[in-house]
Amino acid sequence: EYVMFNGEIVERKAAAVDIEDRGYQFGDGIYEVIRIYNGLMFTAEEHLQRLDESAASIGIEIPYAREDLQIKLESLIAHNGVRFGTVYLQFTRGNAPRKHPFPVGAAPTFVAYTREAGRPEEKLQSGVKTILIEDIRWLRCDIKSLNLLGNLLANQKAAEAGCDEAIQHRDGKVTEGSHSNVSIVKGGTVITHPANNYILNGISRRVMLEICRKEGIPVEERVFSVAELEAADEVFLTGTTIEVMPVIEHDGRTVGNGVPGAVTRKLQQEFRTEIE
Ligand code: PDD
Repeated sequence: EYVMFNGEIVERKAAAVDIEDRGYQFGDGIYEVIRIYNGLMFTAEEHLQRLDESAASIGIEIPYAREDLQIKLESLIAHNGVRFGTVYLQFTRGNAPRKHPFPVGAAPTFVAYTREAGRPEEKLQSGVKTILIEDIRWLRCDIKSLNLLGNLLANQKAAEAGCDEAIQHRDGKVTEGSHSNVSIVKGGTVITHPANNYILNGISRRVMLEICRKEGIPVEERVFSVAELEAADEVFLTGTTIEVMPVIEHDGRTVGNGVPGAVTRKLQQEFRTEIE
């Protein structure tokens, strides 16, 4: 099994991260997950652009140009012969004696690895269940940071409730899932949280919005309430691994007719043509 460690393709066991790596100790780093379809990365430019933005917002300097990083990831995917799956990449601030201020002169630690995985066909067909949960995370959810404890606690609650995802809210305003964006459909209009500091601006969310514009589906990027979520005709999630995922049950109550709705189906269909 081969992975990328500081830019080189090495055997997984040769990738040795120091115990004082700041990613390990502080979650002081950033990451991306990119989907691989047919051996090719989907929306790689957008993911690598967002990685740069995350890095810039916490002052980590990525030591590669975006095109070089993309070529490195492509070489890893080719080396591992991955046709369908994901590539995970992360940069931490590097290793240095454990002190809170940013270390001077530490080089970022870069790891990337691939995983084979098919599309979640069954769930894309059937839809998933969600629960509502309070969003207790920090106020820079736009940064794709390694600090995922808030997201993990949210998702664990969902898992314990037998659900796939937790839909988070702040003071009755829906933000996003633990690892996905949330949209609702009301009267044929797609409504989704605006891209600000309260959510990660998902790449799949952007693909979905682009499809809406192309297909003439009305869209409102605005804050919506828990009451609107509960009264929605359709609810769906977007994310790199789940694409456009219908929600058929929320907090133990049926969404719409309890089957994926027409707008969600249309978006799924168009999403599929984007990746083929
Ligand atoms: N999660 N919101 C959060 C909090 C996320 O972690 C993710 C992605 C998304 C959707 O973003 P995108 O469409 O760019 O994947 C929204 C990744 C896949 C993860 O942590 O596994």
